[in-house]
Amino acid sequence: MSAAVTIDNVVKDYGPVRVLHGLQLDIREGEFVSLLGPSGCGKSTLLYCVAGLEQISSGRILFDGRDMAALGSRERNIALVFQDYALYPHMTVRENIAFPLRRLKVDRKTIEGQVAWAAETLGLAALLERMPSDLSGGQRQRVAVGRAIVRNPAALLMDEPLSNLDAALRVHMRTEIKRLASDLGLTVLFVTHDQEEAMVMSDRIAVLSQGHLQQFAAPMDVYRNPANRFVAEFIGSPKMNLLPSPDRADILLGLRPHDLTPAGPQDGEDAFSLAGTIALIEPAGPQYFLDVLVGGQLVRATASEIDNLSNGSEVRLSAPAHRVYRFDVATGDAL
Ligand SMILES: Nc1ncnc2c1ncn2[C@@H]1O[C@H](COP(=O)(O)OP(=O)(O)OP(=O)(O)O)[C@@H](O)[C@H]1O
Ligand SMILES: [Mg+2]
Repeated sequence: MSAAVTIDNVVKDYGPVRVLHGLQLDIREGEFVSLLGPSGCGKSTLLYCVAGLEQISSGRILFDGRDMAALGSRERNIALVFQDYALYPHMTVRENIAFPLRRLKVDRKTIEGQVAWAAETLGLAALLERMPSDLSGGQRQRVAVGRAIVRNPAALLMDEPLSNLDAALRVHMRTEIKRLASDLGLTVLFVTHDQEEAMVMSDRIAVLSQGHLQQFAAPMDVYRNPANRFVAEFIGSPKMNLLPSPDRADILLGLRPHDLTPAGPQDGEDAFSLAGTIALIEPAGPQYFLDVLVGGQLVRATASEIDNLSNGSEVRLSAPAHRVYRFDVATGDAL
């Protein structure tokens, strides 16, 4: 039932202001794609264009090769889930989930079957007679998802659906949503500004900056082979260190804190290394984060043990040579 979604050279202008600059994305049937980028980069706008809630200025949006231009939002058979779940407060969980089907005048028997299936899938079977006000945040979230999937949409479009939940519930729900989407073979466009959320949930991530597509690739590919400096800095936490190259003024070196560790005795020839002074040690559970002052610049590194380290101590940091990234200073492109 799910569709392949093609975003073909899509431009969106609000009056004189261009907010989407010719975006090109081919999303496969059943694929989970995140739209990731900072506030204002155009994630929601793109989602609303796909949904038919916003008109595109030029380009095409295709579902299974079919141009959606002439179809309004209702006719596209997409499901939307927003940050505020916008459940109908005067309806029970059952009525909320059934609502899209009732509006489509689907027969009662089919509605009952679909609601039962959605409730079962989402673990809501025991809550069907409750009112939204009597549910937890996570439960409301699941009802919103149930209402979205109940009519087998061509695509499920979600705009920061987890951002109102507390940290533990977010982590739980992202796994639930991912599993559900995968079980149902749903094509999902998932908007988030949280790179970790995008990493763990997606088959592919579309990284946007100021309405331009920066990279569209699998999570580990975006992490390990960032197309440019923007992607390199946006993906990964703590952020990648950028340092001047000792021998080339036109190149910046990038080092992920997780690749940069206090040098051990077995370090081979092909290691990149730096010397500095420890300014701060932060325990972070599985490892420590180190802030190290290297020639006037703070560099972040990680250490699994800090036996011989303390504030003010001299430390030598090293990274495998193949984990050193290089960027063109002028264009930001990865080299
Ligand atoms: N109706 C509108 N009229 C004019 N400009 C708009 C309109 N809606 C959005 N914009 C502008 O378009 C750009 C993209 O907005 P959009 O809401 O898509 O960003 P976003 O990536 O979803 O950001 P956030 O993470 O803050 O939700 C922003 O600069 C925004 O100010
Ligand atoms: Mg938005």
